[in-house]
Amino acid sequence: MKKAEIVVDKSFLTGEVDRRIYGSFIEHLGRAVYQGIYQPDSPFADEQGFRKDVLKLIRELNVPVVRYPGGNFVSGYHWEDGVGPKEKRPSKLDLAWCVIENNQFGLNEFVDWAKKADTEVMMAVNLGTRGAEDAKNVLEYCNIKGGTYYSDLRREHGYEAPHNIKLWCLGNEMDGPWQMGHKTADEYGRLAEETGRIMRMVDPSVELVACGSSYLDMPTFGTWEATVLDHCYDQVDYLSLHQYYGNRDGNTPDFLASSVGMDEFISSVVSICDYVKAKKHGKKKINLSFDEWNVWYHSNEADKKLEKWVQAPHQLEDVYNFEDALLVGSMLITLLRHADRVKIACLAQLVNVIAPIMTSDTGAWRQTIFYPYMHASTMGVGTVLNTIVKAPVYASSFGDAPYLDSVVIMNEENETLTIFAVNKDLEEDMEVTCDLRQFAGYHVAEHIVMTHDDMKAENTEANPDTVVPHTGGISKVENGRLCAVLGRHSWNVIRLTK
Ligand code: AHR
Repeated sequence: MKKAEIVVDKSFLTGEVDRRIYGSFIEHLGRAVYQGIYQPDSPFADEQGFRKDVLKLIRELNVPVVRYPGGNFVSGYHWEDGVGPKEKRPSKLDLAWCVIENNQFGLNEFVDWAKKADTEVMMAVNLGTRGAEDAKNVLEYCNIKGGTYYSDLRREHGYEAPHNIKLWCLGNEMDGPWQMGHKTADEYGRLAEETGRIMRMVDPSVELVACGSSYLDMPTFGTWEATVLDHCYDQVDYLSLHQYYGNRDGNTPDFLASSVGMDEFISSVVSICDYVKAKKHGKKKINLSFDEWNVWYHSNEADKKLEKWVQAPHQLEDVYNFEDALLVGSMLITLLRHADRVKIACLAQLVNVIAPIMTSDTGAWRQTIFYPYMHASTMGVGTVLNTIVKAPVYASSFGDAPYLDSVVIMNEENETLTIFAVNKDLEEDMEVTCDLRQFAGYHVAEHIVMTHDDMKAENTEANPDTVVPHTGGISKVENGRLCAVLGRHSWNVIRLTK
């Protein structure tokens, strides 16, 4: 059995967890909106056409914020097409995903749906085919009480009170050549500055996210971030990161090491934000919004064969397996270990499209990745401790990868310590110890484990409970020392209380 040690000190703090780190994302893409969250002709639909079975699962996930309406989709979107009487809404081509968008679901429906899902809205504006003027209009529509053209239009549409949406993304992946209206860093940086300044004139209380690189390997990574922030540092609060991983060559240990790459990505972007702050003699810290992250590769080949210009096709419908859930657990741990700077993160996406929840006409079910996400979002509340982890490592294409990924969260109010941990070793169990003498009287209340003999095991509609967690983990505190056995390839949640 391998051995590892986690060293904790209750005075060594990384930072408070901002619950928005457990956010997610709904884009007008595939069956995320239509047949996902909205399906008026379904027996599961409520009076507004929202799927109640899906809402129930989303509430289980305890999602604090959902980004909307894209994604690539937003870069060609006219939000006005999706408000007002449904019979008057136009059907249009969505060039991002080569489908037809009938606009039967739009901004107001999303705000209503978010209330039912107990979540906040993170809205993106179109800085691809549109610009500052349009961003001003949609903000006026959403956040101004009344007495102006757009705010009165909202009231005419049946929404007397403003939506008061606080969190706004200034476009999406504007560095990507696939993006409608993609831009150079200078072009985008200037546009983000201008748009941010105008939006703050409409509502000074908004929080704004500027687009970072679409992924770490973009050729412009680094200079993009520095140039964009050079222009818009004064106007924005967060810089975005996006990253997806996949086990394309069937090398599971290497796939599980992807979180090392994510960790370095975050550290690099933090450094760039701080470089720009220093250069400008700035007072403000730019924090990170990791607003797209997940595993995404299973559906790539099938998506190439999709018929174009249809409505709500089965697009990006990755069926996740057990090893994907392990990596999602590790990615959550990685985000948490950067809780001092990562304030927002969105698992992309939420329903049907690279998602923890799937639907059919006859029901909804939880994919494997649902569970680590739910555990983190329901139990990962408090202050992240700055731990030292002594664990054996293995060589990977991301460099040395520790077999143990872990994070410890202290919640003084509830007198709990929560440890999320992944043992990435495919062969051996691991004994993990931790000196807890500073936490006198704490004992193990629960040790949740998720594992499966088959790394490729999946949850499907026919067999939705193939990979599920159980509470039979082995751990105990003796003489002030936690001793836990983490089974080979397992996700673990150890809850300690007084
Ligand atoms: O989440 C799917 C897509 O991935 C988004 O539309 C885009 O922003 C990213 O490339």
